[in-house]
Amino acid sequence: MGLVSAKEMLDKAKAGKYAVGQFNINNLEWTKSILLTAEELKSPVILGVSEGAATYMTGFKTVSAMVSAMVDSLGITVPVALHLDHGSYKGAQEALEAGFSSIMFDGSHYGIEENIEKTKEIVALCHAKGVSIEAEVGSIGGEEDGVVGTGEVADPKECKLIADLGVDFLAAGIGNIHGKYPENWTGLDFVALEAIQKETGALPLVLHGGTGIPEEMIAKAIELGVSKINVNTECQLYFQEATRKYIEAGKDLEGKGFDPRKLLGPGAEAIKTCVKEKMELFGSVGKA
Ligand code: 13P
Repeated sequence: MGLVSAKEMLDKAKAGKYAVGQFNINNLEWTKSILLTAEELKSPVILGVSEGAATYMTGFKTVSAMVSAMVDSLGITVPVALHLDHGSYKGAQEALEAGFSSIMFDGSHYGIEENIEKTKEIVALCHAKGVSIEAEVGSIGGEEDGVVGTGEVADPKECKLIADLGVDFLAAGIGNIHGKYPENWTGLDFVALEAIQKETGALPLVLHGGTGIPEEMIAKAIELGVSKINVNTECQLYFQEATRKYIEAGKDLEGKGFDPRKLLGPGAEAIKTCVKEKMELFGSVGKA
């Protein structure tokens, strides 16, 4: 199966009360580990690509070609969406052109009128190509690849305005933060989430900042309408820890332990573990 829009898998998740994970990719190892785990667990999956990660991988075209070819070469049968994460107005159009099957246009840093106007344009461009579109209201705290947010909790009425533009799923700030959560974090704002869900009805909601959210909060968020959960930092931490262990144990100095295919192996396996744990927690296992 080629790359698919994320609309169908998320509508199904919303109806079935589970969530599909978006796992951000950085390179070939990340992509391969996530795809193989999704296939093994028979779970739909969304590969997230920030503009920073796309630039690192030399551009949207490279990413799109690599992911499409890998899905084919590995014989992946579960639904896979290639999704632009926090796309700018220009980036959204470029990723669409390059063959991404799902786009997030993050207009949350504009005033609501400008967010509406630009989101509307991107919705039309995406839907003309059968590509799904995510928009954002409020903001996700912290920083991801240069995208900085204040953590402003979304206004349910503004969520409704954006939802009515025909977006396929909506990210709303509810006290979630990119990266590790600080010690004094007060948790997700479920009152806001409930109010947003009331306004937006059947529209799947997206929870960014999936790293480090306690299991019971994940369950409650899904119960209240979250159908897509984004995870980025946690895979990076798993990769880092496994790689550190390998080097600290001096494995890179033994025989051909310096071979990049060996050196990056433990990290790649650790990413699989991270993705597996999240898919089990989100309830997407066996839902492909
Ligand atoms: P984390 O890095 O906190 O997991 O957040 C990922 C994310 O929301 C991607 O947009």
